[in-house]
Amino acid sequence: MELKDIIVNGLEAINKAETLEQLNEVRIAYLSKKGHLTSVMGQMRNLSNEERPMFGKKVNEVKEKIESAYQQKVSELEAIRLERKMKEDAIDITLPGPEFTIGAQNPLIIIQREIEDVFREMGYQVVEGDEIELDLYNFERANIPQDHPAREMQDTFYIDEHTLLRTHTTAIQTRALEENAPHIPLKVICPGKVYRRDDDDATHSHQFVQTEGLVVGHNITLSDLKGTLSLFAKRMFGDDRVIRFRPSYFQFTEPSVEVDVSCHICNGKGCNVCKHTGWIEILGAGMVHPHVLRDAGYTDPTLTGFAFGAGVERIAMLKYGIEDIRSFYTNDKRFIEQFKRYE
Ligand code: PHE
Repeated sequence: MELKDIIVNGLEAINKAETLEQLNEVRIAYLSKKGHLTSVMGQMRNLSNEERPMFGKKVNEVKEKIESAYQQKVSELEAIRLERKMKEDAIDITLPGPEFTIGAQNPLIIIQREIEDVFREMGYQVVEGDEIELDLYNFERANIPQDHPAREMQDTFYIDEHTLLRTHTTAIQTRALEENAPHIPLKVICPGKVYRRDDDDATHSHQFVQTEGLVVGHNITLSDLKGTLSLFAKRMFGDDRVIRFRPSYFQFTEPSVEVDVSCHICNGKGCNVCKHTGWIEILGAGMVHPHVLRDAGYTDPTLTGFAFGAGVERIAMLKYGIEDIRSFYTNDKRFIEQFKRYE
């Protein structure tokens, strides 16, 4: 190609390039070692000594012009590319954000916290323990010796001869007694999961949640227990609730009672929920057996205490009208979401 064509064609090619890639092709064609400008230098050979410097000068001028046109075009195309990229990547701040869903608490947790709150306000300390427990704390210290028929009341998952899945939160209480003896007053509330060998159905589960309370001190009587549980019943089921004691039997309390609350659905008149008796059983309770106190290290025989235990599932089922205990454990979102609290 002649030098005069190189300048015209080169500038035109640069001008026409629409992308940096096309422009690079032009650079290779004109400015690289194998490009038109290099090959035009070959023509020097055919020139006289006088003509050569002149020609060389012209070639350089053309080269500079093409180079500067090339550089300018590079800047232009880069600016265009940047602008396009900024447009493409732009964040539309008017778009609605992703929706965050708030989780719901399992009703068992809600009820457990409510129970804890009632007793915390009365000065109780919340104490927890391990679900894998020694026979010693689950049974022996609760005045249920080896081979005693009372063990049959709680069908147990044994891990080995001395270790089991605790069958009641009384195990937390016997440990709390031992740890605190002979300190008084002792006031603890003990929530936790417990396990019994049971066939699961609408009202039974091999794993459930209990919450037990325990008080030890001077002059603690059955009427203190009644006053305490009466307040508890009102706080859980409404101010109009009253309670009654019925005699019962537990190894670790003497005397032992079963605690009924007047039905919160029919107000005691009789309905399906209370099986037309007007009363609903919600707790086991009693005065702590002297052996339990003594074995844990409360050796002062004038000390007394009361204890009570409630099934958290049962209270939640009564409060929310839940008919199948398995609903608590199946993690069905439709069930759990009913307990969402919008605050
Ligand atoms: N631990 C008893 C049970 O699981 C409940 C209970 C606790 C009864 C405290 C009396 C006193 O059935």
